[in-house]
Amino acid sequence: MSGAVRLTRFRECEAALRNRDLRQALYDAGKVVMEGVLLALHGDEHAKRREVEVRVFRRNFFRYYEKEVFPATLAETIAPYVESGEADLIAMGYRLTVNLTADFAGIDRPERSGEETDRLITLTKKLSEGATMVHSTRDPAELNAEVAQALAELDRDFLAASIARRRALLEAAGTGDDDADLPRDVLTVILRAEDELELDDAQRLREIGFYLQAGAHSTANSVVHAVDEILGWAGDDPARWDRLDDPIFVQQCVHESLRLHPASPEAWRRSLCPVAVREDESVPADTRVELDLFQANRDREVFGDDADSFNPDREVPSGVMRSALAFGIGVHSCLGRELDGGVLARAGSDPARVQYGIVPLIVIELLRLGVRKRPDRPPEPDESTIRPNYKSYPVTFTRVSR
Ligand code: HEM
Repeated sequence: MSGAVRLTRFRECEAALRNRDLRQALYDAGKVVMEGVLLALHGDEHAKRREVEVRVFRRNFFRYYEKEVFPATLAETIAPYVESGEADLIAMGYRLTVNLTADFAGIDRPERSGEETDRLITLTKKLSEGATMVHSTRDPAELNAEVAQALAELDRDFLAASIARRRALLEAAGTGDDDADLPRDVLTVILRAEDELELDDAQRLREIGFYLQAGAHSTANSVVHAVDEILGWAGDDPARWDRLDDPIFVQQCVHESLRLHPASPEAWRRSLCPVAVREDESVPADTRVELDLFQANRDREVFGDDADSFNPDREVPSGVMRSALAFGIGVHSCLGRELDGGVLARAGSDPARVQYGIVPLIVIELLRLGVRKRPDRPPEPDESTIRPNYKSYPVTFTRVSR
């Protein structure tokens, strides 16, 4: 292997993410859960798997999910916290998003009980810790053993029954094209495409484990960062608080926060051949190319002199997303982007017709409830990782009548 190079400029990172001579390399350390999963694949193998799994991630389905399925999950999950008048946003975020990713991954929760959700959250957090092992501050051997155990428990307690139910449904549906009665999730599409994909049991387990954790971790953290930025921005300014009554403006705030706090602060790639990474610099084959997405998303040349600050009114150049590279770009671009971020609405759009995205929807609801930081219990950083995430973020709800 020949050394490493680090890219910090927006345009360099954008080009590297689009360069097919660079393969995924961030998840080599976390292979106990990430080996052979969609995000870790390259070339034809990746294209083939993505072509199958993308069938779940269509815009019309996101709209249906956000308008018909998620409101009930949101109301049900948030109710006990509203009742008590306080919450830890990290715990609440996981509780909300694990249901979301379990729906998309294809993990059934037959009991629909709090204990069952708690169990799934514990497993999901462990898988997440495993996937991001490259940034962990813990002993790798110990963590590997815990993650392997979590995978085994996911298999035994959730996946086996979820597979059996889908196999029966697929058999009943026969070979017809009418899949209206089939679950709309990754597990169903990979079981249906079994002959095409040829995943063995262990690989299928990792794929589902990957989906479960990828969406949950990033969604929960993005909610907390957005709330933190919005509360800081609004401060004591009544005019700013008034603007936050507009859900379309809140969606814009969330995208600005995603830019500042990409779920993965960096992406790593490895060169398959000599590759030009900057205008005047090439790297030889087998070089690690580190993409500093945190810095790239704050590149002053692209986002202006106030690139480091939260400015929801920021103008971005044409062709650049408000969330910058937070959802990635190129072949590995996030399949959950429109699910979580929605479709950015123009000012003046009909609020009832906007596809907000799950993160904005959660933030809109938290603001409606009058979310505020607890002055007596400041947020705590997560010290098990070098990623700038919170371990806890205690809040109160100031607009609930109890
Ligand atoms: C705010 C929330 C989210 C953020 C910031 C985010 C971010 C990202 C990023 C940066 C990548 C690309 C990584 C790379 O290029 O190395 C990615 C890939 C991916 N994301 Fe997300 N994600 C989010 C939510 C979700 C959700 C909810 C799901 C699924 C339900 C999801 C599914 C995926 C999948 C399947 C990939 C891999 C795509 C591929 O390799 O072809 N993400 N995500």
